[in-house]
Amino acid sequence: MKTVVFASRNRGKIREIRALLEGLPISLRSLDDFPDAPDVEEDGDTFWANARKKALAIARHTGCAALADDSGLTVAALGGAPGVHSARYAGENADDAKNIDKLLRVMKDIPKERRNAAFRCVLVLCEPDGSCESFEGAWDGRIAETPDGDGGFGYDPVFYVPALGKTVARLSLEEKNRLSHRARAFGRFREALERRFQNR
Ligand code: IMP
Repeated sequence: MKTVVFASRNRGKIREIRALLEGLPISLRSLDDFPDAPDVEEDGDTFWANARKKALAIARHTGCAALADDSGLTVAALGGAPGVHSARYAGENADDAKNIDKLLRVMKDIPKERRNAAFRCVLVLCEPDGSCESFEGAWDGRIAETPDGDGGFGYDPVFYVPALGKTVARLSLEEKNRLSHRARAFGRFREALERRFQNR
């Protein structure tokens, strides 16, 4: 059984990932099992750089394979912003409401046809020897003119998915977990592991 340490202390995320990886011959640990693990600053320019930095640091610290993710919102008309700054778009004391307010303010003169956006998630798996593999998931949509719905978190109330005719904040958790950028990235990771275990 291969041990993989998920580089996070977020219990909600760990629970979600445990469910996504169910049935694989993996023993999933988290940073709760390694209290002395270093805190890694997410100061990269890309989701990939941040996830890789976290996964490498944790693989080296624990001596086990480590998995890390980074995600956020990218808006084409804003040159990819908020991107890696999604969590703190409105500043150091930002919260979801402040980030949404800022996004809608910055985009107030941008017409509907130029409001396309994507949620992106990059997952990186690193071994203690420094070798890494990455997996990506994207979810295309459009920034609504006003928030709608109260489910989910982050930018969900303003992320409108045309194919569904609603914002992500109006989806059930099950629906979101089937369609999201995170679900897609984890789906690719799972497929890669299944292939690897089949080839043994
Ligand atoms: P992290 O990958 O957990 O660091 O997420 C970074 C930020 O991206 C979050 O704080 C949210 O603002 C945004 N974000 C990532 N995934 C989602 C999502 O599924 N819905 C809404 N916002 C998201």
